[in-house]
Amino acid sequence: MSEDNAKAEAFLKIRDLWKAFGNFVALKEISLEINEGEFVCFLGPSGCGKTTLLRAVAGLDLQTSGSIEQAGRDISNLPPAERDFGIVFQSYALFPNLTIEKNIAFGLENTGMKKTAITARVTELLELVGLPDQGRKYPAQLSGGQQQRIALARAIAMEPGLLLLDEPLSALDAKVRVHLRHEIKELHHHHGHP
Ligand SMILES: Nc1ncnc2c1ncn2[C@@H]1O[C@H](COP(=O)(O)OP(=O)(O)OP(=O)(O)O)[C@@H](O)[C@H]1O
Ligand SMILES: [Mg+2]
Repeated sequence: MSEDNAKAEAFLKIRDLWKAFGNFVALKEISLEINEGEFVCFLGPSGCGKTTLLRAVAGLDLQTSGSIEQAGRDISNLPPAERDFGIVFQSYALFPNLTIEKNIAFGLENTGMKKTAITARVTELLELVGLPDQGRKYPAQLSGGQQQRIALARAIAMEPGLLLLDEPLSALDAKVRVHLRHEIKELHHHHGHP
């Protein structure tokens, strides 16, 4: 077997993706492959289509044409709930009426996981993002940086195969941003590599 054949298939395969909003073409011929364990950043000027691409991968906004394959499965037309990803947006987008605990547990509660197991997982996640003992608060009682950490904890709660981050640090001040950037790298280092 040649070395190429032995190499693992790419985890995420985006093929010839197009997205049009009416007459406006936001994504044109996007093709790329991302391997398991890779940390990839999309850079480009405002309005170039970064968010649109992430939303297509998440299934929040379907592409006009082209295909997306994740872990050997064609996910192009699956609804978000049937895809395997976690997402963190630029604005924290936590549920304001739910406690921090409930925010993190939100996805887990629909999986049939036992209550005690959910509580344990939430505690573990709160520790992971450096906010133990904050579970009973509501989002408005946390700082911006803390809320963004909770959004991160919520996104990784289900151990998704793919973590999509849409400028998750841009709303934070410089100091918190540097700190959280470091934490995300650490998280990837410990959990992301195959
Ligand atoms: N729902 C929509 N309807 C119409 N046009 C849209 C819609 N969403 C995005 N666009 C347009 O598609 C283009 C790409 O937008 P997108 O949000 O993907 O940019 P971006 O690269 O994420 O920019 P930024 O760095 O400012 O976040 C923009 O020109 C935007 O105006
Ligand atoms: Mg954007």
